[in-house]
Amino acid sequence: MLSQQLDTLTVHAGEDGNSYGSVTTPVVRSAPFVFATTADLISFMAQKEGRRTTDRVEYGRYGNPTVRAAEKKLAALDGGEDAVLLSSGMAAITTLFLAYLRPGDHLLMTNDVYRRSRQFGETFLRQMGIQVSMVPPQVEAVAAALRPETRMIFSETPTNPFLRVVDVDAIGRLGRERGILTAIDATFATPVNLRPLAHGVDLVVHSVTKYLGGHNDLIAGVVIGAEAKVQPLRTLQGILGNIISPDTAYLLLRGLKTLSLRVRRQNENGLAVASFLEGEAKVAKVYYPGLPSHPDYEVAQRQMDGFGGVVSFMLHADLMQTAHFVDALQLSAIAPSLGGVESLVSQPALISYYGLTATERQALGICDGLVRFSAGIEDSDDLIADFVQALERIVY
Ligand SMILES: Cc1ncc(COP(=O)(O)O)c(C=O)c1O
Repeated sequence: MLSQQLDTLTVHAGEDGNSYGSVTTPVVRSAPFVFATTADLISFMAQKEGRRTTDRVEYGRYGNPTVRAAEKKLAALDGGEDAVLLSSGMAAITTLFLAYLRPGDHLLMTNDVYRRSRQFGETFLRQMGIQVSMVPPQVEAVAAALRPETRMIFSETPTNPFLRVVDVDAIGRLGRERGILTAIDATFATPVNLRPLAHGVDLVVHSVTKYLGGHNDLIAGVVIGAEAKVQPLRTLQGILGNIISPDTAYLLLRGLKTLSLRVRRQNENGLAVASFLEGEAKVAKVYYPGLPSHPDYEVAQRQMDGFGGVVSFMLHADLMQTAHFVDALQLSAIAPSLGGVESLVSQPALISYYGLTATERQALGICDGLVRFSAGIEDSDDLIADFVQALERIVY
């Protein structure tokens, strides 16, 4: 097999033919799968006992041909041996923790992570007797917080919502030296911009809902890595049942074919919007790792091929002035997701962090004037013109 570039893999990987000769992978909607004879069944079961992953399936909770094609494509894109698709990004993250952590173990998480990931650690895992600590997304802080019981290091990069970039080479090295499993949620990066496995971490997680699906029309998650490291999740998934449907897998296969085209355009749009905003008097601060003003600019330049479509920024505005600005944007819909072809915008204080008091939000750095913009694939001049007119609506 020729070694192939990412743009080729997005189109072809995982889809190596089917019995119908169709160009696209069929959606196989069947819950059970038939064995011609009992002898066939026995030989399948014997094979399954010896092998860890097989393409032949017997029941939809344990696997499906359309889902398998999508898993193989995702594994190829991130340079992993195997991938397991789950029912959401959160299903991927919670199943990862449940598959690997036992009472007494210590989980080290960086603190600027998706709110629900942090919530699962701080509530459910602690209730289960697992020690959980949160540290700033810098290697020195991670190294200083290691304990003899540390079993896993988990971080996002870039982080949500402040786009901090974690040095994944250093995290991988730390894990290998100490025999600790390392897992990176690279949802904001995508394999177009960063392939954490090549930097020495054990497992990559994505909310497939975002860039990988790419069209704001599906919910799924994935964990990718060496087959032996993915297997505990697959086994647990067979019990929990948090699978995706073959129809979702088909939408994903279709979306992935244009992944590089979409994400490169979103990289361009993200950088264009971030650069524009940085020059605006009504904008107090822009968080985008492709800008030299970002604290992680150097590590981002070293390890990433692009910086993504998410731009967070702080306005010189209070909660309601910021809401007026968000309402005035005509091209970006107000919605709590990111990574799709349509630009979306959200005000974290009023969406993800709505239930928190102003003081609690302040402690997390979620100020009233904070806005998170996710660039779609629209024309960047049109996006900027929209920001110009919306900024004019902020009156002091
Ligand atoms: C970085 C990151 N990881 C995980 C998730 C959860 O993904 P899902 O919504 O697919 O469960 C999100 C959701 O916003 C996210 O931003």
